Amino acid sequence: MHAAWFADEIAAEVAPLLPGFRVEVVAEIDSTNTELMRRARQGITAPVLLVAERQTAGRGRLGRPWESAQQTSQPASLTFSLGLPLAPKDWSGLSLAVGLSVAESLDPTSAANVRLKWPNDLWMDDRKLVGILIETAVPQGDAAQRYAVIGIGVNLGAREPDGLRTPPAWVHEWRPNATPGELLRDLVPPLVATVQAFAERGFAPFAERFTSRDALRGREVQLSDGTSGRCEGVGWGGELRVHTAAGMQTITSSEVSVRPVRAPT
Ligand code: BTN
Repeated sequence: MHAAWFADEIAAEVAPLLPGFRVEVVAEIDSTNTELMRRARQGITAPVLLVAERQTAGRGRLGRPWESAQQTSQPASLTFSLGLPLAPKDWSGLSLAVGLSVAESLDPTSAANVRLKWPNDLWMDDRKLVGILIETAVPQGDAAQRYAVIGIGVNLGAREPDGLRTPPAWVHEWRPNATPGELLRDLVPPLVATVQAFAERGFAPFAERFTSRDALRGREVQLSDGTSGRCEGVGWGGELRVHTAAGMQTITSSEVSVRPVRAPT
């Protein structure tokens, strides 16, 4: 393995929040999300962080593939999934809270202009820096609690835009020496705390901070269902509010994709 992953340090910091938590680093796997979902279907639902130096079949939202940047001497992407049992009253807004936590850890002062693109991408200057894929499994015999798999892919090193729907941004643009292990150590403890706070109190306590980093608010947007209008930001439940010719529409389904129609003025 190439990198120092600080696995023991991360495990020690998170275990008090999440008893039984383990960190696992593998050189190669098809997809960290696929693996944790496979395990959940087999009844393995302990809290775990699974980090892969390389994914051979990374998955994105809406059934799309997630291609990591080409390998160099260091992994050029950070790819991991956090799996944990979770029982929030309402799941809506989880992906937004997760994105917010990652954005605040990567760019605490907003100096790099890391912004949140509903429902859960991180963008810099309309280029994609981070993708998030959240999936859940229902463990056998326990319908009240689900096993959440929160998969995160961060572009670390420079990459070509070829084949990507949105041109890429990468962390080395403003932190040229950051290693994947250092980023993991920055991201994971606040992420676990955020997910637990979400499970207790929902999205509302995060809404104002999301708004301050919202990449779409105030812009003309086009939805994949053909609607367009002016984005008015997110509501207390994490729903996207778009002012269209037919009035205010609220979008809750992450199966609808949304894009700005032009750069901000
Ligand atoms: C998207 O942008 O559509 C979501 C991308 C999510 C990628 C991460 S990488 C780690 C985890 N494993 C996967 O197969 N996908 C997620």
